[in-house]
Amino acid sequence: MMYQKCIVCGEKFGADEIIYLCRRCGGLLEVDYDYDLLEAKIKKSDWQSLPLSVWRYKDFMPIRGSSKIVSLTEGGTGLHSCQRLARILGIKHLYVKNEGENPTGSFKDRGMTVGITKALELNVETVICASTGNTSASLAAYAAKAGLQCIVLIPSGKIAYGKLAQAMVYGAKVVQIRGNFDRALKIVLELSEKHREVYLLNSINPYRLEGQKSLAYEICDQLNRQPPDRVVLPVGNAGNISAIWKGFTEFRKLGLVDRIPRMTGIQAEGAAPIAQAIKNGRAEIVPIDKPETVATAIRIGAPISWKKAIRAIRESGGTAETVSDEEILEAQKMLARHEGLFVEPASASSIAGLKKLFEAGKTDEDEVVVCVTTGHGLKDPDIAIKISEKPSEVDAEIESIERLLGLSRYMPATVISR
Ligand SMILES: Cc1ncc(COP(=O)(O)O)c(C=O)c1O
Ligand SMILES: [Zn+2]
Repeated sequence: MMYQKCIVCGEKFGADEIIYLCRRCGGLLEVDYDYDLLEAKIKKSDWQSLPLSVWRYKDFMPIRGSSKIVSLTEGGTGLHSCQRLARILGIKHLYVKNEGENPTGSFKDRGMTVGITKALELNVETVICASTGNTSASLAAYAAKAGLQCIVLIPSGKIAYGKLAQAMVYGAKVVQIRGNFDRALKIVLELSEKHREVYLLNSINPYRLEGQKSLAYEICDQLNRQPPDRVVLPVGNAGNISAIWKGFTEFRKLGLVDRIPRMTGIQAEGAAPIAQAIKNGRAEIVPIDKPETVATAIRIGAPISWKKAIRAIRESGGTAETVSDEEILEAQKMLARHEGLFVEPASASSIAGLKKLFEAGKTDEDEVVVCVTTGHGLKDPDIAIKISEKPSEVDAEIESIERLLGLSRYMPATVISR
């Protein structure tokens, strides 16, 4: 009923084969299903009565049964109607799908709950990933829950402190490399090809992306099966945009929705190979040697899933845009101050990108837009403190505080007696 299929040459591989790239052409793999069988299965299932979460969609997931599921209660994140921010931007309908509400604070948990469950089905004992931070935090947590060994490779000094703290406290073997994320990913891919007992859970792993597609299902269900016109999200290694697009296409194939939103990918100016290819109408990306941005989560120069992402953007009629670090940080502040949503810089790039596209006349004020904020603001407290006003310090006396706040010294008796 399911198998792994090369997105380039169409070659098929067994669902339980541990394989990361097509053996025939080196292309990326995706999980494919017999959708007629799947449609029949979901018609008989009570999935629509389950609470919103990744596992509400168990029938759509590539796992064999429920006995091995490793869950920390992922998904079911808020789809926040952001009217104050929408008004400021000049648009009518803005929602934020806030993935910081996941157990380790990012969308990666959707992928890891499925990826680690698959790892147990495949009887592996050690899992590995390269990471700009969130993947390592998430993998470390799910490996701990499953009792698996976990190794993470991260670029030395280039990941946010909160994420490093998570990977360490969950007990992963943390290896900092003197090199960037792209280098780390090359190494873990080579390592896991060479040492078959080490299972790779970067987004090149199609099973992980199956978990991440649940984000699209949830958006459809939260909007009563009226998909938004556009979904805007940050793009780094490009797994997430591909997974979410696959989710929407599946809901359409299964007759659950009748259209697909325009997938709109946002990259930081200093790390934007996919946005550049889309803007220049090129078929292929030109990797960037030394990617740079304050949004360390998307500081990636050679995104491994670029082909899937370009397919998602082009086939959905979407687009891509770049944003500067300044625009990202401004958007981070706006979202916090006007909507009470504290997200990390990479996540805020979705808001910054929407603002830029709208101002350039590339999106319409009437569109229903969902911006995905991918990770929690507390992941990177240093940045939050840097962009905010410093707290005032005064003597611990009521008079000093009244003076500072400009409050009059005598309160009316009525207020006091209440
Ligand atoms: C917070 C955050 N946003 C966006 C991304 C980019 O996701 P992808 O690599 O799937 O494009 C990442 C990846 O690490 C991330 O941690
Ligand atoms: Zn192939």
